[in-house]
Amino acid sequence: MAEFRVESREGGAIEVWTIDGEARRNAISRAMRAELERLIEEAQSKRELRAVVITGAGDKAFCAGADLKERAGMSEEEVRAFLLDLRRTFRALELSDKIFVAAINGAAYGGGTELALACDLRVIRRGAKMALTETRLAIIPGGGGTQRLPRLVGMAVAKDLILTGRAVDAEEAYRLGLVNRIAADDDVVGAAVALAAEVAEGGPIALAAAKAAIQQGMELGLDEALELEYQQYQRTLHTADRLEGLAAFREKRKPVYRGV
Ligand code: COA
Repeated sequence: MAEFRVESREGGAIEVWTIDGEARRNAISRAMRAELERLIEEAQSKRELRAVVITGAGDKAFCAGADLKERAGMSEEEVRAFLLDLRRTFRALELSDKIFVAAINGAAYGGGTELALACDLRVIRRGAKMALTETRLAIIPGGGGTQRLPRLVGMAVAKDLILTGRAVDAEEAYRLGLVNRIAADDDVVGAAVALAAEVAEGGPIALAAAKAAIQQGMELGLDEALELEYQQYQRTLHTADRLEGLAAFREKRKPVYRGV
């Protein structure tokens, strides 16, 4: 059975991937994780695709983290294997050339928040909540949460949220810098698609290069990071899209970028 519903929007420039597991609050099962990894891989080779919105089915949960029912029947070895697979899958979102927008439609708990953190941008519905609940389950965030959260919001806030395991509402998540936008109404997917469409107006190679410069540069010292920025700039230099951008400016029209 398909774990995601995939819809194409804006002539294929945007896809919406909906975790189709409402009855288990869109929790991450082994099958769901494997399908997510396959989707990320396939997305990389779709030239017309610029940005992907990831959301959950229903209005209760974006994703309730690891599938705890499945987990209960897993051996230690199986849990370890799942964790390694999950870590690789979340990293693939960051290493992809595509831009990922999380549309947080409901509770994002544990791995659900970690999935959102591995996306490039986050839009939340008023009423939705985010939490890294793991310490309350006597484990720690293992899908990158202890590393991505402090990089995003700073160590003090990360320690507060991870050590207490408490949930933040949309307003607090926005105030802390955990999300980029609060949707104006209940249509959080619409708001995320609008943000993705805004992103998709940029040159595709430029978007990938800017994402890589930011993502990888954060891990480096400033001199090395500036060198990385220079290298990523050069990915755009020889492109037809760069010339199209200049031509469109001169001719006072909207550019048409083709990702070449
Ligand atoms: N794994 C597997 N099943 C889950 C799940 C998870 N992580 N989270 C929820 N479910 C299941 C429940 O067991 C329940 O199944 P049932 O109908 O067979 O009893 C169903 O989803 C509905 O859950 P319920 O708690 O009644 O829904 P809710 O809308 O009131 O609350 C949550 C949703 C997400 C807030 C709540 O389910 C929750 O806190 N889940 C645990 C989240 C968590 O701590 N995850 C961290 C994992 S590391």
